[in-house]
Amino acid sequence: MRIQPSILSADFVNMQAAIETIASADAVHVDVMDNHFVPNLTFGPAMVTRVQAVSPIPLDVHLMITDVDRWAPGYAELGVFSVTFHAEATENPVALARRLREIGARAGLAVKPGTDVRPYLEMLPEFDQLLVMTVEPGFGGQSFLADMMPKVAAVRSAVAVGGLDVWVQVDGGISLDTIAQAAEAGADTFVAGSSVFGSPDAAAAISGLRSAAAAHSH
Ligand code: DX5
Ligand code: ZN
Repeated sequence: MRIQPSILSADFVNMQAAIETIASADAVHVDVMDNHFVPNLTFGPAMVTRVQAVSPIPLDVHLMITDVDRWAPGYAELGVFSVTFHAEATENPVALARRLREIGARAGLAVKPGTDVRPYLEMLPEFDQLLVMTVEPGFGGQSFLADMMPKVAAVRSAVAVGGLDVWVQVDGGISLDTIAQAAEAGADTFVAGSSVFGSPDAAAAISGLRSAAAAHSH
């Protein structure tokens, strides 16, 4: 069970201190948004470089941008642990996943709530993680979409049937109230923004989420 706090909910002008509070997590989730793929604008490569320089834990970069064929390899070249792009943002997810892996990053594929995951299940061996969005991408603090759980279960089952080592990630509205459902559906990697950084004790929030997920895992 992996917990990955999203710094979208951290204090942007005290980022280094914020990152220190989540040192017990498995990765820092970095939401890159371009104001085109989603109606919000966040960080670019310069910020990712600085976060990586001060972070004691690996970086999981979630690209909510268009033109991923052009931009995603540059994020992998920064040496981050994983780079996830959206299925809706490229015509050829497999070719891009291969480029990312060649550069040395784990490759992730993300699907928005309205996107059917089934056409992508046959590509799973080309990926290291599959991200099922449990909110409409763009903003932190939204409500968890429980009706995405069948999608999570479909991914988990494809991973099991194929005997694959692919992480099943969920992102959006993950809290102590919702993480059990996601773990039960088969998620093993949990992004949490507001429930970690909105808590007075981020380390306690992380360990609480981790135990709740573990208690409901398969
Ligand atoms: C939403 C981002 C999420 C966001 C999650 O588009 O991809 O990573 O930070 O925030 P919470 O956990 O508050 O829903
Ligand atoms: Zn995200």
